[in-house]
Formats: sequence, C-alpha cells, structure tokens
Amino acid sequence: MIIESIKKRRSFRTYKSDPVSDEMINEIIKAAQFAPSAMGRSAVEFIVIRDQKIKEAIFAVIDQDYIKTAPVLVVPVASDQSVLPVQDLSIVSENIFLQAAELGLGSVWKNLTPVWEEKVKEVLGVPQNFRMIDIIPLGFPAEEKPEHSDEEFKIEKIHQEKW
Ligand SMILES: Cc1cc2nc3c(=O)[nH]c(=O)nc-3n(C[C@H](O)[C@H](O)[C@H](O)COP(=O)(O)O)c2cc1C
Repeated sequence: MIIESIKKRRSFRTYKSDPVSDEMINEIIKAAQFAPSAMGRSAVEFIVIRDQKIKEAIFAVIDQDYIKTAPVLVVPVASDQSVLPVQDLSIVSENIFLQAAELGLGSVWKNLTPVWEEKVKEVLGVPQNFRMIDIIPLGFPAEEKPEHSDEEFKIEKIHQEKW
C-alpha cells in the first residue's frame, strides 16, 4: 500500500558513508520522471553530484554538514520549458523522497533561498533563467527515526464542503 511507503519517509540529516549505486539513483530519478508535470511538459532535469569538490563548493554557500557528508546530492532543475517551475520541482522532489525511502535511503528537502539558488546555479553552471528550489542529499541514514503513525492524522483539519 502506498500509505505504508508514505509513512516510512522521514527527513534524515545524517548519512553513512556507504556508497549509493548508480542503479539506485536511476531508480529514484525514474520515479521522479513519472511525476505529473504542468501541461505535461516534464521540464525537470537532474544534477547528480558525487564529487567532493563540488559538494564543498555548495557547502561554502549552504553551511550544512550533510551537503558534504551525504554520498550523493541530487538537484532537480526546472528548465525554461516549465510553465510552473516551483510546482513541477515540488512534485518531482516528493517522488524522489518516496522512492529513496522505499530503497532504504534517507533524504531531506534542503531549501534554497533565492540568494542560495543564484549562488548554487553559478557553482553548477545552471542557466540563469532555470529554477532550482531544493537540494536533496541521499544516503543510508546514520540515525533512526520512527515512521509516521496514524496518531498524527488530524481529522479536524478536514472541512466538509466549505471552510
Ligand atoms: C518546503 C519545505 C522546505 C524544507 N526545508 C528544509 C530545510 O531547509 N532544511 C531541512 O533540514 N529540512 C527542510 N525541510 C524538511 C522538514 O523540516 C521536514 O519535512 C519536517 O520537519 C517534517 O519531518 P519529516 O520529513 O521527517 O516528516 C523542508 C520541507 C519542506 C516541505
């Protein structure tokens, strides 16, 4: 059941150094490419980063240890063909989180502020008019977290017919 996978997904911010295979990354990006997209344009591409020097350059912008310690960083990039880049990037990111969790990998949405987005674009050579909203570290988690549970379900947040 999809709900079981959804519950399993948590944000992880510490990762083991164990390598993550290309097959796993491809499986995750395949899931991302099956996400819905505005006008069916599928205008999101992906930068996969394993090179420590590039991670260090991103770390210089975003002072978060997991940028350096995660075995892989994935950066979804919406090209100028995307009509709703933030929405396209968000839904792609969720598919990445879910498929990563399914494979036993941890991940987290590292948000890019507008200033960081511009700086990281420079580091990665991404065209100015393309968009990025997050950086996603991937790796086997070095911490334990409980799955989400049914107790978190808040029925009072459901409004019938009108607010
Ligand atoms: C739009 C958005 C922005 C987020 N930005 C960050 C971030 O910059 N850094 C971070 O560590 N986690 C970030 N998160 C992850 C949240 O902190 C996390 O999803 C939340 O605490 C719930 O925990 P869970 O993901 O384990 O269920 C972000 C999540 C979303 C949806």
